[in-house]
Amino acid sequence: MASYKDVLVTGGAGFIGRNMIAGMVRDGYTITALDNYKIGGKEFVDDEIRKEVNWVEGDSRDYSLIAKLTKGVDGVIHLAAPSSFLMYEEDPTDGASVTTQGFLNILEAVRRNDVGKLVYASTSAVYEGNPVPYTEEMTLAPPDLKALSKKWNEEAARQYSDRYGITAVGLRPFSVYGHDEFSKGGYANVISLFVWAALSGQTPVLWGNGQQTRDFIYVTDAGRAFQLALEADLKTDEFNVGTGLETTFNRTLDLIGSELGVDLTPRYVPTPIAIYAERLWADTRKAENILGFHPSVTVEEGIRRVIASAKEARDRWPELGTRQMYFETLPS
Ligand SMILES: NC(=O)c1ccc[n+]([C@@H]2O[C@H](COP(=O)([O-])OP(=O)(O)OC[C@H]3O[C@@H](n4cnc5c(N)ncnc54)[C@H](O)[C@@H]3O)[C@@H](O)[C@H]2O)c1
Repeated sequence: MASYKDVLVTGGAGFIGRNMIAGMVRDGYTITALDNYKIGGKEFVDDEIRKEVNWVEGDSRDYSLIAKLTKGVDGVIHLAAPSSFLMYEEDPTDGASVTTQGFLNILEAVRRNDVGKLVYASTSAVYEGNPVPYTEEMTLAPPDLKALSKKWNEEAARQYSDRYGITAVGLRPFSVYGHDEFSKGGYANVISLFVWAALSGQTPVLWGNGQQTRDFIYVTDAGRAFQLALEADLKTDEFNVGTGLETTFNRTLDLIGSELGVDLTPRYVPTPIAIYAERLWADTRKAENILGFHPSVTVEEGIRRVIASAKEARDRWPELGTRQMYFETLPS
């Protein structure tokens, strides 16, 4: 930690960012958080953490801003990018431009300002088309724009590392879920969507037969992985961030239903999109062995936390009800 004390976090008001920052502030880091507040917001950050962070509103595509913010920092954690494939489907040019141009700005500023370490968010979606479990050595040929843009990030990072000697570590989070995902609305993880649907008395809608799986990783564990990657003595590399366990969508509904004491028998509908991952499952050995990363929250415990915070937030965010429209259309 000593050598990376002052850190710029892009996308810092987002779901992973704000949970990661909370841990880092408690561990003594000085954090500047850049966000355009398109999805995330400072209001989702606890008061005692919020006042410790230097918040900057701006866009990662603004090079002069990025150059200014990276001056004198020890490390950068770059998270600012659309987090759902649906965002790329809805606005492909914006999605790809934030993911590629924003990242190039970061690489260039890290190089020019001699920043010691860059850790950035790639995605498990880069593996699409491969058999599970996904291992870091697999050949990547992503079939959609989100994953392709993230793969481009990884290749650009490698090129900057080879040509200019920067250290850039890419993390590939799997299905990140957790207690305070309200800022993502209909783009939230299925676990949040199912819990909100259940609490609203709705019948969950499942694409396919519900046997599709995800490697669900709790948000504080995912945030911890980014911090570990910053702290570890690493060369440019890529790591999976998952639990090494698959859970079916049917099983998540069983867990939510039994926790709430309700029957959540879903309505099954044909999968409405052409490119859809049936299984997402991380081989976690590399992250365990090199980063020392061991997730601590089981899916059972994580679901209990999501339910607890959703019950509390129903009063704090009455507009949650207006998001119910997504449950019928976006359970991905
Ligand atoms: N959540 C997941 O399951 C998951 C899985 C794999 C990868 N990731 C990646 O992790 C990162 C963080 O994801 P998240 O779940 O916290 O998403 P999020 O949407 O909650 O956070 C991203 C934040 O970046 C901000 N942002 C977006 N574009 C920006 C721009 N041009 N300039 C400045 N800020 C901008 C948003 O306002 C938001 O607060 C993303 O890069 C995402 O692709 C997430």
